[in-house]
Amino acid sequence: MNSLTLRTKSCVRSIEHWLSRRLGHSSVTLAFRAMPWLQTARASLDAHDAHYRIEKALDEERQYIQRQWGLDAQNAPGFALGPLVEHHPGVRALAVDIGAGTGWVAGWLARQFELVHAIEPSRAAVTIAKRILAASNIEWHVGMAEDMLARLTLPSPALFVTGCVLSHLRDSETRTICRLVSQKAPRGSLLCFAECWGEEHHQPIWHVRSQDWWRSALPGWQLEFLSCNIEVPGRYKGIHGVKSS
Ligand SMILES: C[S@@+](CC[C@H](N)C(=O)[O-])C[C@H]1O[C@@H](n2cnc3c(N)ncnc32)[C@H](O)[C@@H]1O
Repeated sequence: MNSLTLRTKSCVRSIEHWLSRRLGHSSVTLAFRAMPWLQTARASLDAHDAHYRIEKALDEERQYIQRQWGLDAQNAPGFALGPLVEHHPGVRALAVDIGAGTGWVAGWLARQFELVHAIEPSRAAVTIAKRILAASNIEWHVGMAEDMLARLTLPSPALFVTGCVLSHLRDSETRTICRLVSQKAPRGSLLCFAECWGEEHHQPIWHVRSQDWWRSALPGWQLEFLSCNIEVPGRYKGIHGVKSS
């Protein structure tokens, strides 16, 4: 999770606590529970895009990418992209990074795969990524994954990656993205979602969905839910999958 996400979440939590002390816990909790359903389809894009547009964004993102690579973040317990790729040496032609941001995952994938499709709706993020990453085998697609996935041609098994993207989106967009991933993925494809799962929990731009929810959104995939506990008991991060039909 990047620093913007952490700041947004802690800001929402502080506002909720402040209002709870003044207006009473139950009414405020109820209001905040309703807020996720008022979230728009662009809410995550708008929040992230505002960050990518600030003057020091290029420097901050350059440092962020170096930090992620330095920490071997691709091997982090709630992602485990490195081990998944290593276990499937036959899938090396195509990778799709959905919600690529400024591209630290795409940059890592470009060293393992022949071609990486990086989908990102923030033009500011893509401009930064192109200034930082030298890889010539990353093809950038500027737009929402709900629109861009349908345009991809994937003739051989591909790896689909999301680095904390779907947990920011509403159920409806997430379902559409999962449906398109399933439609596009040839048998033998892989998925590596650094996304939340566990006891259902929804707050603005932060959604945790149950295993049943993910299974119904991703039919035809053999899913493995990683046991990386986050935030509170019952909440986890990380989903792997192999397309079996
Ligand atoms: C938390 S950031 C993660 C960026 C990157 N994957 C990383 O790990 O640093 C979420 C990204 O999803 C992008 N995003 C928002 N809505 C999207 C959508 N509908 N389709 C694809 N990406 C989206 C945002 O612009 C943002 O760059």
